[in-house]
Amino acid sequence: RKSNPMPNFKGTRFTNAHETLIWASKSEKSKYTFNYRAMKTLNDELQMRSDWLIPICGGQERLKRNGTKAHPTQKPEALLYRILLACTKPGDVVLDPFFGTGTTGAVARRLGRDWIGCERESVYCEVAEERIAAALPLDESAIKTMQSPKSAPKVAFGQLVEAGYLNPGTKIFDRKRNFEAVVRADGSILCGAVDGSIHKVGSTIQNAPSCNGWTYWHYAAADGALKPIDDLRQTYLLATEP
Ligand SMILES: C[S@@+](CC[C@H](N)C(=O)[O-])C[C@H]1O[C@@H](n2cnc3c(N)ncnc32)[C@H](O)[C@@H]1O
Repeated sequence: RKSNPMPNFKGTRFTNAHETLIWASKSEKSKYTFNYRAMKTLNDELQMRSDWLIPICGGQERLKRNGTKAHPTQKPEALLYRILLACTKPGDVVLDPFFGTGTTGAVARRLGRDWIGCERESVYCEVAEERIAAALPLDESAIKTMQSPKSAPKVAFGQLVEAGYLNPGTKIFDRKRNFEAVVRADGSILCGAVDGSIHKVGSTIQNAPSCNGWTYWHYAAADGALKPIDDLRQTYLLATEP
Protein backbone atom coordinates (compact mmCIF):
# COMPACT_ATOMS: atom_id res chain seq x y z
CA ARG A 1 0.00 0.00 0.00
CA LYS A 2 1.34 3.39 -0.94
CA SER A 3 1.06 5.86 1.91
CA ASN A 4 1.26 8.81 -0.50
CA PRO A 5 -0.08 7.61 -3.88
CA MET A 6 -0.28 9.83 -6.95
CA PRO A 7 -3.81 11.24 -7.14
CA ASN A 8 -6.06 10.27 -10.04
CA PHE A 9 -6.02 13.80 -11.48
CA LYS A 10 -9.03 13.38 -13.77
CA GLY A 11 -11.22 11.97 -11.01
CA THR A 12 -12.34 9.13 -13.27
CA ARG A 13 -11.38 6.11 -11.16
CA PHE A 14 -10.03 4.98 -7.84
CA THR A 15 -6.58 6.28 -6.97
CA ASN A 16 -4.03 3.54 -7.59
CA ALA A 17 -2.78 3.08 -4.06
CA HIS A 18 -1.35 -0.41 -4.09
CA GLU A 19 0.75 -2.81 -6.11
CA THR A 20 0.62 -6.57 -6.06
CA LEU A 21 3.66 -8.71 -5.38
CA ILE A 22 3.79 -12.21 -6.79
CA TRP A 23 5.70 -14.55 -4.51
CA ALA A 24 6.30 -17.75 -6.41
CA SER A 25 8.52 -20.81 -6.46
CA LYS A 26 9.45 -22.97 -9.41
CA SER A 27 7.19 -25.82 -8.33
CA GLU A 28 5.06 -26.72 -5.36
CA LYS A 29 7.86 -28.86 -3.98
CA SER A 30 10.62 -26.30 -4.47
CA LYS A 31 12.43 -25.17 -1.38
CA TYR A 32 12.14 -21.46 -0.88
CA THR A 33 13.52 -18.97 1.60
CA PHE A 34 11.25 -17.20 4.03
CA ASN A 35 13.06 -15.50 6.86
CA TYR A 36 10.11 -15.58 9.22
CA ARG A 37 12.06 -14.56 12.31
CA ALA A 38 13.82 -11.64 10.62
CA MET A 39 10.46 -10.33 9.38
CA LYS A 40 8.95 -10.60 12.84
CA THR A 41 11.88 -8.74 14.34
CA LEU A 42 11.64 -6.06 11.66
CA ASN A 43 7.99 -5.64 12.61
CA ASP A 44 8.55 -5.09 16.34
CA GLU A 45 7.92 -8.74 17.27
CA LEU A 46 4.59 -8.94 15.46
CA GLN A 47 4.20 -11.35 12.55
CA MET A 48 4.82 -9.47 9.31
CA ARG A 49 1.53 -8.92 7.50
CA SER A 50 1.05 -9.38 3.78
CA ASP A 51 0.00 -5.74 3.27
CA TRP A 52 2.95 -3.41 3.50
CA LEU A 53 2.52 0.34 3.92
CA ILE A 54 5.46 2.08 2.25
CA PRO A 55 5.75 5.61 0.83
CA ILE A 56 6.46 5.94 -2.88
CA CYS A 57 10.01 6.89 -3.77
CA GLY A 58 10.71 10.59 -3.27
CA GLY A 59 13.04 13.14 -1.67
CA GLN A 60 16.77 12.48 -1.69
CA GLU A 61 16.24 8.90 -2.79
CA ARG A 62 14.65 9.91 -6.08
CA LEU A 63 17.36 9.89 -8.74
CA LYS A 64 17.64 12.92 -11.01
CA ARG A 65 19.22 13.47 -14.39
CA ASN A 66 19.60 17.10 -15.56
CA GLY A 67 17.25 18.24 -12.82
CA THR A 68 14.38 15.89 -13.70
CA LYS A 69 13.37 12.43 -12.51
CA ALA A 70 15.77 9.87 -13.93
CA HIS A 71 12.99 7.27 -14.19
CA PRO A 72 9.20 7.60 -14.01
CA THR A 73 8.61 4.61 -11.73
CA GLN A 74 11.63 4.25 -9.47
CA LYS A 75 10.72 1.91 -6.61
CA PRO A 76 11.39 2.76 -2.96
CA GLU A 77 14.46 1.07 -1.51
CA ALA A 78 12.43 0.17 1.59
CA LEU A 79 10.29 -2.12 -0.55
CA LEU A 80 13.24 -4.01 -1.99
CA TYR A 81 14.89 -4.10 1.41
CA ARG A 82 11.93 -5.94 2.86
CA ILE A 83 11.60 -8.28 -0.11
CA LEU A 84 15.28 -9.23 -0.10
CA LEU A 85 15.45 -9.57 3.66
CA ALA A 86 12.37 -11.82 3.63
CA CYS A 87 13.17 -14.06 0.69
CA THR A 88 16.94 -14.27 0.26
CA LYS A 89 20.06 -15.10 2.20
CA PRO A 90 23.41 -13.28 2.06
CA GLY A 91 25.31 -14.47 -1.02
CA ASP A 92 22.15 -15.39 -2.99
CA VAL A 93 21.78 -14.09 -6.54
CA VAL A 94 18.76 -11.87 -7.19
CA LEU A 95 17.51 -11.46 -10.77
CA ASP A 96 15.56 -8.34 -11.73
CA PRO A 97 14.54 -8.57 -15.39
CA PHE A 98 13.12 -5.01 -15.39
CA PHE A 99 15.95 -3.23 -13.68
CA GLY A 100 15.15 0.45 -14.32
CA THR A 101 17.37 2.51 -12.02
CA GLY A 102 18.66 -0.64 -10.33
CA THR A 103 16.89 -0.31 -6.99
CA THR A 104 17.09 -4.08 -6.63
CA GLY A 105 20.83 -4.10 -7.35
CA ALA A 106 21.59 -1.24 -4.97
CA VAL A 107 19.73 -2.85 -2.08
CA ALA A 108 21.14 -6.29 -2.94
CA ARG A 109 24.66 -4.87 -2.76
CA ARG A 110 23.96 -3.25 0.59
CA LEU A 111 22.60 -6.48 1.99
CA GLY A 112 25.44 -8.67 0.71
CA ARG A 113 23.44 -10.34 -2.07
CA ASP A 114 24.60 -10.65 -5.67
CA TRP A 115 22.38 -9.44 -8.48
CA ILE A 116 21.66 -9.65 -12.19
CA GLY A 117 19.68 -6.89 -13.89
CA CYS A 118 18.18 -6.61 -17.40
CA GLU A 119 17.23 -3.20 -18.73
CA ARG A 120 16.57 -2.23 -22.33
CA GLU A 121 17.07 1.55 -22.03
CA SER A 122 20.79 2.33 -22.01
CA VAL A 123 20.26 5.57 -20.07
CA TYR A 124 18.65 3.66 -17.19
CA CYS A 125 21.53 1.18 -17.29
CA GLU A 126 23.97 4.04 -16.78
CA VAL A 127 21.93 5.46 -13.90
CA ALA A 128 21.76 2.01 -12.30
CA GLU A 129 25.48 1.34 -12.67
CA GLU A 130 26.41 4.66 -11.06
CA ARG A 131 23.94 4.16 -8.29
CA ILE A 132 25.04 0.64 -7.43
CA ALA A 133 28.70 1.60 -7.49
CA ALA A 134 27.88 4.20 -4.81
CA ALA A 135 25.83 1.82 -2.64
CA LEU A 136 27.92 0.92 0.38
CA PRO A 137 27.74 -2.74 1.34
CA LEU A 138 26.91 -3.28 5.00
CA ASP A 139 29.43 -4.84 7.29
CA GLU A 140 29.06 -8.64 7.43
CA SER A 141 27.98 -8.59 11.07
CA ALA A 142 25.25 -6.07 10.28
CA ILE A 143 23.75 -8.32 7.62
CA LYS A 144 23.02 -11.13 10.05
CA THR A 145 19.38 -11.43 11.01
CA MET A 146 17.36 -13.27 13.61
CA GLN A 147 16.85 -16.93 12.75
CA SER A 148 13.96 -19.29 13.30
CA PRO A 149 14.69 -21.87 15.99
CA LYS A 150 14.33 -24.53 13.25
CA SER A 151 17.29 -23.26 11.28
CA ALA A 152 19.28 -21.90 14.19
CA PRO A 153 22.11 -24.00 15.63
CA LYS A 154 21.11 -25.77 18.84
CA VAL A 155 21.80 -23.79 21.99
CA ALA A 156 21.45 -25.26 25.45
CA PHE A 157 19.86 -23.04 28.07
CA GLY A 158 22.95 -23.63 30.20
CA GLN A 159 25.08 -21.87 27.57
CA LEU A 160 23.15 -18.65 28.21
CA VAL A 161 23.71 -19.02 31.95
CA GLU A 162 27.37 -19.80 31.38
CA ALA A 163 27.77 -16.75 29.13
CA GLY A 164 26.09 -14.44 31.65
CA TYR A 165 22.91 -13.74 29.64
CA LEU A 166 20.89 -14.98 32.64
CA ASN A 167 22.75 -15.28 35.92
CA PRO A 168 22.11 -18.08 38.40
CA GLY A 169 19.47 -16.87 40.84
CA THR A 170 17.53 -14.92 38.17
CA LYS A 171 13.77 -15.37 38.32
CA ILE A 172 11.89 -16.36 35.19
CA PHE A 173 8.13 -16.45 34.70
CA ASP A 174 5.40 -17.76 32.43
CA ARG A 175 3.77 -15.05 30.31
CA LYS A 176 1.01 -14.34 32.84
CA ARG A 177 3.29 -14.55 35.86
CA ASN A 178 1.33 -17.48 37.26
CA PHE A 179 4.55 -19.41 37.77
CA GLU A 180 7.96 -18.28 38.89
CA ALA A 181 11.16 -20.29 38.65
CA VAL A 182 14.76 -19.68 39.66
CA VAL A 183 17.66 -20.26 37.27
CA ARG A 184 20.38 -22.47 38.73
CA ALA A 185 24.08 -22.55 38.00
CA ASP A 186 23.90 -25.66 35.79
CA GLY A 187 21.10 -24.31 33.58
CA SER A 188 18.35 -26.22 35.38
CA ILE A 189 15.45 -24.30 36.88
CA LEU A 190 13.48 -24.72 40.10
CA CYS A 191 9.77 -23.93 40.26
CA GLY A 192 8.20 -24.76 43.64
CA ALA A 193 9.16 -28.38 44.20
CA VAL A 194 9.74 -29.12 40.52
CA ASP A 195 13.19 -28.93 39.03
CA GLY A 196 14.79 -29.85 35.72
CA SER A 197 15.24 -28.34 32.28
CA ILE A 198 13.23 -25.31 31.13
CA HIS A 199 11.19 -27.70 28.95
CA LYS A 200 10.60 -30.41 31.55
CA VAL A 201 9.60 -27.99 34.31
CA GLY A 202 7.31 -26.14 31.88
CA SER A 203 5.50 -29.32 30.89
CA THR A 204 5.26 -30.69 34.46
CA ILE A 205 3.71 -27.57 35.99
CA GLN A 206 1.20 -27.32 33.15
CA ASN A 207 0.43 -31.05 33.16
CA ALA A 208 1.22 -30.97 29.46
CA PRO A 209 2.90 -33.72 27.44
CA SER A 210 5.58 -31.28 26.25
CA CYS A 211 6.56 -27.65 26.47
CA ASN A 212 8.87 -25.37 24.51
CA GLY A 213 10.66 -23.76 27.43
CA TRP A 214 12.20 -21.10 25.16
CA THR A 215 8.84 -19.52 24.46
CA TYR A 216 7.12 -20.49 27.72
CA TRP A 217 9.57 -18.85 30.12
CA HIS A 218 10.13 -15.11 30.26
CA TYR A 219 12.63 -12.86 31.91
CA ALA A 220 12.06 -9.33 33.19
CA ALA A 221 13.84 -6.86 30.91
CA ALA A 222 15.40 -3.64 32.23
CA ASP A 223 12.08 -1.78 31.76
CA GLY A 224 10.22 -4.48 33.74
CA ALA A 225 8.47 -5.94 30.67
CA LEU A 226 8.46 -9.72 30.34
CA LYS A 227 10.31 -11.07 27.31
CA PRO A 228 10.61 -14.69 26.18
CA ILE A 229 13.97 -16.20 26.99
CA ASP A 230 14.09 -17.13 23.31
CA ASP A 231 15.03 -13.47 22.66
CA LEU A 232 18.19 -14.02 24.70
CA ARG A 233 18.96 -17.15 22.70
CA GLN A 234 18.65 -15.13 19.48
CA THR A 235 20.95 -12.44 20.84
CA TYR A 236 23.42 -15.12 21.91
CA LEU A 237 23.32 -16.69 18.44
CA LEU A 238 23.93 -13.36 16.75
CA ALA A 239 26.87 -12.66 19.01
CA THR A 240 28.50 -16.06 18.78
CA GLU A 241 27.82 -17.30 15.24
CA PRO A 242 31.06 -17.59 13.27
C1 LIG B 1 8.77 -0.41 -13.59
S1 LIG B 1 10.32 -0.12 -14.31
C2 LIG B 1 11.39 -0.74 -13.10
C3 LIG B 1 11.77 0.28 -12.09
C4 LIG B 1 12.82 -0.22 -11.16
N1 LIG B 1 12.31 -1.21 -10.25
C5 LIG B 1 13.41 0.93 -10.36
O1 LIG B 1 13.29 0.97 -9.12
O2 LIG B 1 13.99 1.82 -10.98
C6 LIG B 1 10.42 -1.33 -15.58
C7 LIG B 1 11.68 -1.25 -16.42
O3 LIG B 1 11.70 -2.37 -17.29
C8 LIG B 1 12.29 -1.99 -18.52
N2 LIG B 1 11.83 -2.98 -19.52
C9 LIG B 1 10.58 -3.16 -20.00
N3 LIG B 1 10.55 -4.16 -20.88
C10 LIG B 1 11.81 -4.66 -20.95
C11 LIG B 1 12.41 -5.71 -21.68
N4 LIG B 1 11.71 -6.45 -22.52
N5 LIG B 1 13.71 -5.96 -21.48
C12 LIG B 1 14.44 -5.21 -20.61
N6 LIG B 1 13.93 -4.19 -19.91
C13 LIG B 1 12.62 -3.91 -20.08
C14 LIG B 1 11.78 -0.59 -18.75
O4 LIG B 1 12.65 0.14 -19.59
C15 LIG B 1 11.73 -0.03 -17.32
O5 LIG B 1 12.90 0.71 -17.02
